[in-house]
Amino acid sequence: MPSLGVNIDHVATVRQARMTNEPDPIWAATLAELGGADGITLHLREDRRHIQDRDLHLMRQTVAVKLNLELACDEEVLKIACEARPYQATLVPERREEVTTEGGLDVLGGRKRVAEAVKRLQDAGVVVSLFLDPDTAQIEAGQAVGADAIELHTGAYARAAAESSSERELESLLSAGQFVREAGLTLHSGHGLTYRNVRPIAEMPGMCELNIGHSIISRAIMVGLEQAVRDMKQLIS
Ligand code: PXP
Repeated sequence: MPSLGVNIDHVATVRQARMTNEPDPIWAATLAELGGADGITLHLREDRRHIQDRDLHLMRQTVAVKLNLELACDEEVLKIACEARPYQATLVPERREEVTTEGGLDVLGGRKRVAEAVKRLQDAGVVVSLFLDPDTAQIEAGQAVGADAIELHTGAYARAAAESSSERELESLLSAGQFVREAGLTLHSGHGLTYRNVRPIAEMPGMCELNIGHSIISRAIMVGLEQAVRDMKQLIS
């Protein structure tokens, strides 16, 4: 059964909307754990639009399950990550104008930069995952730069699933997933996963970890975070 990493960035987004101290993502992380989350995922963006440095430092002390920090290959944030030493780091691309992470990391186009980031994080004792599109050339490059895991970007699948035309995207994720496993890397997936579309992804052979944010936090507004996490855990098991 894949483990569930709950992305709590949206809780910080609500807080930042008023530049105040509520709701606190630290509380959210605790509630997600109580609901059965196997991991807490947070993204420290260069523009600090949601998660703040303080959140990372406090969660490093309070989160008992695996802490997964998403970050770009950016010097300032890399330095913070190497000092904070979360359990895992997921390297993602970042563009200031995007609403959320829009595509996978381009390892082929930035091999040296990614390889250096992977090495620095691993030297600090951090497990490194790369967020990639289901593209074998990118996955091969990810293996070559020494990543421990690949998180397949499920955004295209999620968009197609909303229109009931997800067969082709699912096929492409399945073959990319097989490629990741045969390369000896750990298989993760995330982005756009919901209570409706998660099942085929959770059922993919060798799936180890799913990272889900928007859908869980959306449901949490209605039913509470513990319940929302419990519902998702039940679906993926
Ligand atoms: N995985 C990665 C690498 C992401 O950047 C995000 C979004 O922050 C997610 C998973 C979660 O995506 P969603 O909020 O659509 O569930």
